[in-house]
Amino acid sequence: MTQVFHTVTAMRDAVERAAQDSPKQQPVVSIVPTMGALHSGHAGLLRAARNSADIVLASVFVNPLQFDDPQDYQHYPRQLDHDLQLLAQHGVDCVFAPGLEEMYPGYPEGPLIRVNTGKLGQRWEGASRPGHFDGVATVVTKLFTILHPPAPAVCEAWFGQKDAEQLAVIRRLVADLNLPVRIRVLPIVRDKNGLALSSRNVRLSDEDYDAALSLSRALFTLAARAESGKTLDVEGLRDHLRASGGVDLDYLVVVDPNNLQEIAHGVIHEPALALIAARVGPVRLIDTMDLRPALSPPQ
Ligand code: PAF
Repeated sequence: MTQVFHTVTAMRDAVERAAQDSPKQQPVVSIVPTMGALHSGHAGLLRAARNSADIVLASVFVNPLQFDDPQDYQHYPRQLDHDLQLLAQHGVDCVFAPGLEEMYPGYPEGPLIRVNTGKLGQRWEGASRPGHFDGVATVVTKLFTILHPPAPAVCEAWFGQKDAEQLAVIRRLVADLNLPVRIRVLPIVRDKNGLALSSRNVRLSDEDYDAALSLSRALFTLAARAESGKTLDVEGLRDHLRASGGVDLDYLVVVDPNNLQEIAHGVIHEPALALIAARVGPVRLIDTMDLRPALSPPQ
C-alpha cells in the first residue's frame, strides 16, 4: 500500500522502517523526484524504478526555486489526488508530498544556503532561465538527503532523458558533492506524433500542438544527418524554425553531453546531444536527442 507523508520527519522514519523491514540484506531504494502533474512519461520512470528496486519512493513538490517566472510557477498544474492514484497504481511504497513551508521554512527569505551550479548551470536553459539549475540542484540535494535510506541499503534516483541539461547538472552535482546516489536514466517518452511528453503539454491548443511538432522534427532531422555522416546545418534548421509560424525559438544547439558546450555544426565524429527550447503558445517547451556519428564515412 502506498503511504503519503507531508513532513520531513515522518518521511525519514518511513524510509528507515521500509529499509529495515525489507527481507533483503542490502535493499535497493529508488527515488523518483517529481513536481507532480504526472503523465505517461513519469509512468515510465515509475515502472523502471519498480522493476529495478526493492523499495520505491517518489516525491511530489513544485519547487519555486527553479521557476524564474512567477506566472509559470503559479500556473504549473497541481493535481495531488490524481498523482497519488497514479503513484499507487505503480506500486510506489512511500510518497513525500511536502508543503512549501516544510521544504523551505521562511520562504522566500529561505533557504539561505543554495547550491551554485556554476558555468554548467548558466548555459542554454540556464541562460534563458537564470537560477533555474541552482534551484533544481538545491531541491534535488535536499530530496536526496531526506529520502536517502540508512546503510547498507543502496540508493538510486531516476530522471528522464528529456531534461538532458538537468541530467548533466545532476550528474555533476552527485559527482562534485559525492552524493551517495546512483543516477538512472529513462529515455524520452514521445506521443504518436513525436512530441516529447511534458506536464506543460496540457496547456497547448490544437494549433500550438501542431506547431510544437516542428521541434521534434528538427531533432529527428539532425539525428538522421548525423547518422548518415552529413553536415548538420543547424543554422539552416534554426532559420526554418524561425520562419515557420507558431514557434518562438530560443535555442537549437548541438553540444557535448557532459559539459553542454556547443560543438561545431559540421559533421560530428563523437556522440553529441541536440537541445532545443522554444515558446509555443503559452508554454516553453524543451526537447533533446542523442546524435550518433556515422559508423563509416559516406561514399
Ligand atoms: O524534473 C523535474 O520534475 C524537477 O526538475 C525535479 C527534478 C523534480 C526537481 O524539482
